[in-house]
Amino acid sequence: MKDSIYNMNIIILAIETSCDDTSIAIIKNGKVLINCAATSEKLQKKYGGIVPEIASRSHCEEIDNVLKTALLNANINIKDINYIAYTSNPGLIGSLHVGKVFALQLASLLNVPVLPINHMIGHVYSYFIDHDGKPNYPFLALIASGGHTFIALFESINKYTILNETTDDAVGEALDKIGRNLGMEYPGGISIDKKYDPNLANLKIISHSPPENDFSFSGIKTAVLNFINNHQVKNEEYDKIQLASSALKWIIDDLMIKLKYWINQYNNIKAIVLGGGVSANSLLRSEVMKINGILILIPSLKYTGDNAAMIGIYAYHKIIERSK
Ligand code: KG4
Ligand code: ZN
Repeated sequence: MKDSIYNMNIIILAIETSCDDTSIAIIKNGKVLINCAATSEKLQKKYGGIVPEIASRSHCEEIDNVLKTALLNANINIKDINYIAYTSNPGLIGSLHVGKVFALQLASLLNVPVLPINHMIGHVYSYFIDHDGKPNYPFLALIASGGHTFIALFESINKYTILNETTDDAVGEALDKIGRNLGMEYPGGISIDKKYDPNLANLKIISHSPPENDFSFSGIKTAVLNFINNHQVKNEEYDKIQLASSALKWIIDDLMIKLKYWINQYNNIKAIVLGGGVSANSLLRSEVMKINGILILIPSLKYTGDNAAMIGIYAYHKIIERSK
């Protein structure tokens, strides 16, 4: 192991602008000093979804202030930053671009290395933002967000295999669309979680695909929208909470069926790691906690959604790994 990296302070400035939050975090020797954000969510609420142009404009307007707030609150001089990490993909192209240009300019000004980080892999490491230690490999990660859903096998920080991914809508996207069609507040995923009633989750909507198949959530979304339309056309009453609860139960069951399938395929898994905005969901968290005999790592609620701290923590683990 090289001595130098352990003799110096590793201070990472992390920038995350993949969607509607302009987030900046400062990580010192693996500890998050500050994670702050400005969001255009209120503006987006008016449209019932993210408008990419609004998001990228908002990043341009906010990013300087978020940086100043982060440095001030972390009590860090910008000259002490020795790495910059930023979300390079996936995400909204204009939003990503704002973060990238900002990161590259700052890195060149400070003359420090810059690390482009994959947003989804950042979600995988979000448990470690406020929990000590490092990941035990191999582990299985279930990541569910507004734009992506996948189960992946991680054998090391740089070696992972996607086992199931979504072929169409992501879980969050499907829930948001279902919520919108049921007249619920945006984002639908959070509204449906709050209104979920296990006693009403009893409508049989569609069946599940074989566990080794990729995820697909457009089928459940379309079935729910057809259910709503059919009732509206016939002027028939239906219970919105029953429909939303049944759809959520179907979605979580589908995630669990596939997760359990992969747990059974590998007998050396050391942990199950959850992440992404949908990992805030109460039903998903409680179902994953029921899995016996494997360490379950679920991020704190404040770090399930998009944040720069996860980008910085993943960058930190990469830097440490590289120096070995
Ligand atoms: O990871 P994230 O913040 O952004 C993306 O990378 O997409 O995920 C946002 C998604 C939204 O679709 C939102 O509805 C969903 O996460 N979400 C939830 C909950 N909290 C956020 N879905 C279900 N239950 C929740 N409690
Ligand atoms: Zn995300």
